[in-house]
Amino acid sequence: MKRFFEAFLAAFLLGFVSDVHGLKFYRGHLVGYDIPIGDTSDVTRSTARISTEYYLQRLDHFNPTNKVHWSQKYFVNDAYMSDEKNVVFLYIGGESQASSYWMSNGAWIEFAETHGALLFMLEHRYFGESQPFSDWSTENLRYLSSEQALNDLATFISAMNDKYELPEDVKWIAFGGSYAGAMAAWLRQKYPHLVHGAVSSSGPLFAQLDFPEYLQVVIDDLALHSQECVDNLKEAITQLEDLIQNPNEDEDLNSLFSFCDDIAESANSTSDLANLFELIADNFAGVAQYHKTTNTLYNINLVCEILNDESKGNELHRLAEVNNFVEGITDDSSCFDYKYSNIIEKWSNATVIASGMMRQWMYQTCTEFGYYQTSSQEIPVFGSRFPLSFFTQMCVDIFGEKFNETFVGEKVQHTNIFYGGFDIETSNVVFVHGTIDPWHVLGLIETVNPQTPSILINGTSHCADLYSSSSSDSAELTAAREQIGELLASWISA
Ligand SMILES: *[C@@H]1O[C@H](CO)[C@@H](O)[C@H](O)[C@H]1NC(C)=O
Ligand SMILES: *[C@@H]1O[C@H](CO)[C@@H](O)[C@H](O)[C@H]1NC(C)=O
Ligand SMILES: *[C@@H]1O[C@H](CO)[C@@H](O)[C@H](O)[C@H]1NC(C)=O
Ligand SMILES: *[C@@H]1O[C@H](CO)[C@@H](O)[C@H](O)[C@H]1NC(C)=O
Repeated sequence: MKRFFEAFLAAFLLGFVSDVHGLKFYRGHLVGYDIPIGDTSDVTRSTARISTEYYLQRLDHFNPTNKVHWSQKYFVNDAYMSDEKNVVFLYIGGESQASSYWMSNGAWIEFAETHGALLFMLEHRYFGESQPFSDWSTENLRYLSSEQALNDLATFISAMNDKYELPEDVKWIAFGGSYAGAMAAWLRQKYPHLVHGAVSSSGPLFAQLDFPEYLQVVIDDLALHSQECVDNLKEAITQLEDLIQNPNEDEDLNSLFSFCDDIAESANSTSDLANLFELIADNFAGVAQYHKTTNTLYNINLVCEILNDESKGNELHRLAEVNNFVEGITDDSSCFDYKYSNIIEKWSNATVIASGMMRQWMYQTCTEFGYYQTSSQEIPVFGSRFPLSFFTQMCVDIFGEKFNETFVGEKVQHTNIFYGGFDIETSNVVFVHGTIDPWHVLGLIETVNPQTPSILINGTSHCADLYSSSSSDSAELTAAREQIGELLASWISA
C-alpha cells in the first residue's frame, strides 16, 4: 500500500514526499491516524530540544522470573518545560512507528506552551524500533498486548520521574489518538497515582468482534453529501458483482480496475472476491476516516462528486475511478492486488520491518479487540462478501488454527471485562470524538460521569482535535480544543 501511495503522492503532490508515511489502510482494521501531508499548522516550532532516547524495558511484566529486557525508543522535548518541572505530557505511541513529528506539532504542543510541560513520547512495543525480538513469529508475538504496553508506560513514567528528578507533586497528563486514545484513558484508569489526567481522542473503548457499524457510518457520511452518492455506489458494486459472474466482452474489468491478476480466474474464489470487495470498501473507509485531516485529497465530497458525475460513464466506471484514485494507481505505475493468498503471505512474513504494522496490529485484533469492519450492514452498500468469518479465517490463516472465531470472541470479551468497555470508571479523562469518524461508535460520546466528559465534534473525523490548530478549522473543532484546554487547566491547577 505504501508503494501505491507514494506513487500517488509523486504524481499529485510533488515536493511533499519526504518523511511522510502512507495512509493506514488496515484491510478491514483501519485504525490509527497519521501525520498530515504538507504543513497544516499556522506556526512552525523549533525541533532543537527534541532528542531520541532508549529505555531498557522488561519483556514480561507478569512473570517475575523472566529477566529479559529490550530497548524501547522514546522522544523527549524540554523546550517548553517550566523551572518547576511539575507538568509532564506523555504522548502514547500506538500501532505504528513513533514519529518525532508530534514532538513539535499538534494541539498538545499548544497546551504544553501554556502549562510549561516537559514532553515525552514512548513508542509502542513491537512497532518501529521498539522490537523485543529479531523476528515476529507467532510465538514471539505473545508479549504483544495492550496490558503489557500499559505496564511499559507505567514503568517508563516511574523511571522518568527519577531520571529527570521531577518533583513529588508532578502531574503527568496522557495524550493519545485512536487505539492509543483508548490506552490514554486506560492508563489513567489503571495507574491514577502515576497519571493525573488524560485526553483520549477517538479511542475505541469497547472491543467488538463484528463491527458492521463502522461501514454504516461511512455510508452515512457519503449520504451527508447526497443520497445519490450512496445509490450510485451501491449500483456500481452490483454492476461489478454481475460482471465478475457474467463477463461481458465490452467491459474489461482488468484494465478498468488495473487488477494485477485476471479477475476471471477468481470468479469462483470466495476468498479472493471477499478480499476484493473488502479492499474497495476499505478505500472508502480511508477517505471517511481521514476526511480533511491528513491529506486534502481525502475528502468525502471529492469522492461523491466523482460517483455522481454522469460524464464519467456508468456507475461502475465512476467506482473504478474513485478506487484507482485512492489506491494511488496512476496509468502504469502499479496494479490492484486483490489475491487473498498474497495478503496472507505478506502478513505471515515474520521479518521485522520498522515501518511495518499490519502483522502486529492484526495480531492484536485477533487476540484482544476484533473491530472487524464487516459487510454485515442491514442494507448492504459494499456488497455482502466479507462477513465476520472472512476476518476470523484470516486470524487462523496468519497465526494458526488456535486463533479461530471462538478464541477471538473470548479474547474480545476478556478485553471488555478487563477495561470495562463503555462502563470505564475513572476521572480526569476527556473523551473526544467526531461525528464523521466511524470509530465514534465504539467510544463514549455522551457524558455519563462529569469526571469524564465527552466531546462529540460535529463534522470532524478521526483524531481531528490532535492536529495543530489551523485557520481552516471549523468553529466546532476550535471550540472543542478550547474546551479540552479548559479541562486541562482545571486538572493541572487542582
Ligand atoms: C467456475 O465454476 C463454473 C461452474 O462450476 C465453471 O464452469 C468455471 O469453469 C469455473 N471458473 C473457474 C475460473 O474456475
Ligand atoms: C519477508 O519480508 C522480507 C522483508 O520485506 C523479505 O526480504 C523476504 O523476502 C520476505 N520473505 C518471504 C518468505 O516472503
Ligand atoms: C476453535 O477451536 C477450538 C479448539 O481449539 C474448538 O473447541 C472450537 O470449536 C473451534 N471453534 C470454531 C468456531 O471452529
Ligand atoms: C452539524 O453540522 C451540519 C452541517 O454543518 C448541520 O447541518 C447540522 O445541523 C449540525 N448538527 C448539529 C447537531 O449541530
